[in-house]
Amino acid sequence: MDAFECIRTKLEVREFSTRDVPSEIRLKVLEAARLTGTGLNTQHWRFILVDNKQNLKKLAEDSTSGNWVAGANFAIIVLTNPKYNFHSIDAGRVLQNMQLAAWNSDVGSGLFTGVREEKFRSDFGIPNELSPTVIVGFGYPAIELTGKRKNRLPLNKLVYYEKYGDSKIVE
Ligand SMILES: Cc1cc2nc3c(=O)[nH]c(=O)nc-3n(C[C@H](O)[C@H](O)[C@H](O)COP(=O)(O)O)c2cc1C
Repeated sequence: MDAFECIRTKLEVREFSTRDVPSEIRLKVLEAARLTGTGLNTQHWRFILVDNKQNLKKLAEDSTSGNWVAGANFAIIVLTNPKYNFHSIDAGRVLQNMQLAAWNSDVGSGLFTGVREEKFRSDFGIPNELSPTVIVGFGYPAIELTGKRKNRLPLNKLVYYEKYGDSKIVE
């Protein structure tokens, strides 16, 4: 898929079919993560791949805003090191690259950030020095997404020209 088309059509998916995602696509998603740049090339992030149904259920129970992850085919917990003040930017970049790499192979994904931290850390063995910044669930969408529209503000509400407040339309 063309990169822009991939961005244009990607939506968050929270309902997944039971169809398995082939291991080569899963590997591609992880490769997309590995290839993403980090601030100062620190590569401080670590990823926990979860695909055991019981553990996906545990992940759902430990979440406060991602209960739907129980139905995912697999999930990736993104850990970043908060000693770097840019760690959440790194998390955002890797997250988006993984989501786009998946969507390029028709695999949908959704993310969540809210966890019951103590239980979550203990269940997944997360060391104190790393933050569980974001969790992404992947799987084939349960429903057809083609034709679904994104709810986004138009460019003329978002972009100023040369100086904040000048709303000349950018062409
Ligand atoms: C920083 C951030 C945090 C988010 N946290 C959650 C979350 O906790 N649970 C959830 O279901 N979706 C979460 N989302 C997904 C947003 O709800 C989603 O990006 C937004 O609704 C747009 O969805 P769309 O691309 O399908 O239109 C989060 C997204 C971002 C960027």
